[in-house]
Parts: sequence; structure tokens; C-alpha cells
Amino acid sequence: MTDDDIGDNEIHLADNLDVLRSIPGGSVPLIYVDPPFNTGRPQSRTRIRTTRADEGDRVGFQGQRYRTTRLGTSRFADSFDDYLAFLEPRLIEAHRVLHPAGTMYLHLDYREVHYVKVMLDEIFTRASFLNEIIWAYDYGARARRKWPAKHDNILVYVKDPKHYTFNVDDIDREPYMAPGLVGPEKAARGKLPTDTWWHTIVPTSGKERTGYPTQKPLGILRRIIRASSNPGELVLDFFAGSGTTGVAAHELGRRFLLVDDSEEALQVMAERFKDSQDVRFVGFDPLSRCRKSNKERQ
Ligand SMILES: C[S@@+](CC[C@H](N)C(=O)[O-])C[C@H]1O[C@@H](n2cnc3c(N)ncnc32)[C@H](O)[C@@H]1O
Repeated sequence: MTDDDIGDNEIHLADNLDVLRSIPGGSVPLIYVDPPFNTGRPQSRTRIRTTRADEGDRVGFQGQRYRTTRLGTSRFADSFDDYLAFLEPRLIEAHRVLHPAGTMYLHLDYREVHYVKVMLDEIFTRASFLNEIIWAYDYGARARRKWPAKHDNILVYVKDPKHYTFNVDDIDREPYMAPGLVGPEKAARGKLPTDTWWHTIVPTSGKERTGYPTQKPLGILRRIIRASSNPGELVLDFFAGSGTTGVAAHELGRRFLLVDDSEEALQVMAERFKDSQDVRFVGFDPLSRCRKSNKERQ
């Protein structure tokens, strides 16, 4: 299978490891992922496996059917070892499916970024590390016994450091801090962002907000997608949550493949894409869930 065979604008309810293993190597130009953070809170997860079967309950690429087997529910304390062991096979697959000129953005926070950086250096090589983007925001309570942590870390890796997409002229520009010092023409154009991005969190009220607890701002995803992919190309997010990556990709004329193993996430995505005729759900019926959630709201 080639890149063109991967389903356009698909949203899968599945364990991402199963979906990743079914994607052809070297076929995805851009990956953005925002895995659940290592929060220290106990986690409970139901594991499923999908196998090819003509009467299966899920439909995958090219209409092939898959049977779902529930492997059981595991509880773990979200300790650090568990977190790295959970991420590693998924990141190895991400590296495999990445296009030779592709880029991966991995969204983390200050607690695990250093450990995951070491792991990614092993998977991608140190030479393939492009940037650590600091997304700085200013919201919520301020710690009084240490510097309040108000940033996330986004690690950027490319498959080939000599050949990758970076559309510098398409990146949204920022206002100069002292526009009077640079002249009117430069001031009107704005400056190129650096690796430190100031951006508000998703406003607590307003039309972007979906109610999904870990939703990321569209502004961050638009910038990533414009810079590191071209129109018509595929963008993969295998920890999709509320589907922010898909919404930004769709808006910017890219194709997307989203995966999440939570029905709640799929429900939010179904609501977000309810007016888009070109979006296909796999392993999940968006109509029944939308109707149900509408009923539940009444
Ligand atoms: C931090 S959230 C992503 C939020 C997303 N960036 C957004 O803007 O809404 C992480 C997501 O990963 C999903 N997830 C965790 N483990 C998974 C797995 N093994 N397979 C697929 N999705 C998984 C969770 O259900 C959750 O929705």
C-alpha cells in the first residue's frame, strides 16, 4: 500500500498500537501526538486486539473487516516505568510509518520530557532532533513555593535531517515587541516565531471549547501543520482526544487519520465533525452517539 491508499479523513476507535501496525512504512508526512501525561494518578485501561475476519465488527482500510477481542482491563499506578514502556512501542511504530521527508511533533510536559527525549534520540538518532518547542501560557493558580510551571514541551524529530518539509514562508508571524525599532514595513509583516510560542490555552468559554479536558488550542496545531506539511498530505494523530489535529488539518486542506481508544473522545470528535461529509468513522457509529449525546443533553 502507498500513502494514497491510507483512508482520507478517518477517525478510528482503537488502541493506537493496532492501527499503527497496519500503516505502511514511510507513508506519513506529519505526525503530531499528545499522549496522556505521566500524571501520577492511577490509570485504568481496557486493552483490545483487532484481527482480520470477514464477519468482524470493525471496518478498516480498504473496507477490510476486523474482529475485536477484549483482552482485559489493567490498572496501573501510572508510574514512570509504565509510562515509558507504554510509549516506546508506539514511538518505534511512529518512526517506521514516517515518510522519508516526514516530521514528528511529540507534545509532553516538564515531568517526562527529558526521559522521553533520551528514548527518542535512540529511536530517531540525535541528529534527527530538530527542536524543542516551549509552548508558554499563563493560566490557573500560581505555586507559591516554586516557580509556577506554565509551559508544555513539544519535541520535534525528522526522519532525515538533510531532507524534510519546513515551509518557512507559510508560518503565521508574530508582532514585534518594539515595532517602532524595525520600521513600518517589517512591523506590518511581523516576525518569524522562535522555538518559544506564547499562546493562550483553549478559552474556558467560547466556540473552540469542546469540554474535552486535555484539548489543545487550534492555533498551535495550525502553526505545526502549515510549517511541516503540504496541502493534500496526510497528518496522523494517534492520541487524538477531541480531534484538534484533524480540525486544523481539514481547515488547511490536508488529509488526516485520527485514533483514540476512548468512546468519550470519539463522541466529542463526532460532534466536532458533524457537518463534514468527507469524514469516516471506523469502529464507531457517529450518528447513534451524536443522537444519544443530544438526547442526554436535553
Ligand atoms: C492528552 S489527550 C489528547 C488531547 C488532544 N491533543 C486534543 O487536543 O484534544 C490523550 C488521548 O490519548 C488517548 N489514548 C490513551 N491511550 C491510548 C491508546 N493506547 N490508543 C489510543 N488512544 C489512547 C486518550 O483517550 C486521550 O484522549
